[in-house]
Amino acid sequence: MILQTEFEEYLYKKVNENTKSKTKEAMSYSLMNGGKRIRPQLCFALLKGYGINPELGFPAACAVEMIHTYSLIHDDLPSMDNDDLRRGKPSCHKAFDEATAILAGDGLLTKAFEVILNSECDNEQKVKLVYYLSSYAGIDGMILGQDLDIKAELEPNPSFEQLLEIDKYKTAKLLTLPMILAAILANHEEDIETLKKIGLLSGIQFQMQDDILDITQSEAQLGKSTSDTENDKLTIVSLLGLEQAKQMVEQYDKQLRDAINCLHCDTKYLEEIFDFLLNRTY
Ligand code: IPE
Ligand code: IPE
Ligand code: MG
Ligand code: MG
Ligand code: MG
Repeated sequence: MILQTEFEEYLYKKVNENTKSKTKEAMSYSLMNGGKRIRPQLCFALLKGYGINPELGFPAACAVEMIHTYSLIHDDLPSMDNDDLRRGKPSCHKAFDEATAILAGDGLLTKAFEVILNSECDNEQKVKLVYYLSSYAGIDGMILGQDLDIKAELEPNPSFEQLLEIDKYKTAKLLTLPMILAAILANHEEDIETLKKIGLLSGIQFQMQDDILDITQSEAQLGKSTSDTENDKLTIVSLLGLEQAKQMVEQYDKQLRDAINCLHCDTKYLEEIFDFLLNRTY
């Protein structure tokens, strides 16, 4: 892991710098509750590959992790997936209450933009970072995916294409985002199109694995509730079964490795993350 301790300290500082409130406590509770920090690590790995100090990416990575955490808090709400366990602890609405969990999500989303705007990079880069954050998290991004995910629960004959569309938005957008932000910070925007491809492939693969783990692992092992079957979710496992789902993950990994070769940087650090993700058990 790249700068793990330093980044945890940075997150803690950022999420605690505002006025004291119950909502701020809930924001800090959910953000600092562990989590694999894959999205920040993708940003740091790419910066390192470009020969840049990953610390330059702290504000961008913090913003993405805040938005990701907000998406998890809202995803767990009774009106969405209704899950009581997250990152090994009671979900935000269980540890606090539903209203506070909604506000904590709202707080993390808006705080993400404050962190970017208060960062040191130049104004032209800042405008680009804010543009990608808003568009990849928003209604043409992660939120669209959550919309499609909920709608698909009622679909009698779901297709593979429909599943890919859900995963493209609900998961791949927030995995692509930190890599694009790193390319902007490193002044390597020529790589953005390749990163979109890598992000799409890895995001779909990541969600397929998440769906597999929901069936194959215990809640204790994952640190979160496993509710896909109960919620009639459209997943790669519900669509193709476990064995074919696992084969699909391998296929996506091969495509991903080809795409990585097109980047204009040392891809060693990025590849280490994708090695970890391929074999993850949580
Ligand atoms: C979970 O993401 C939500 C999905 C997109 C599948 P992570 O598996 O990255 O969750 P944390 O951050 O480690 O808790
Ligand atoms: C959630 O997908 C993706 C987002 C939060 C945007 P899941 O609903 O499968 O995530 P988990 O399994 O609850 O972490
Ligand atoms: Mg969900
Ligand atoms: Mg969920
Ligand atoms: Mg899941």
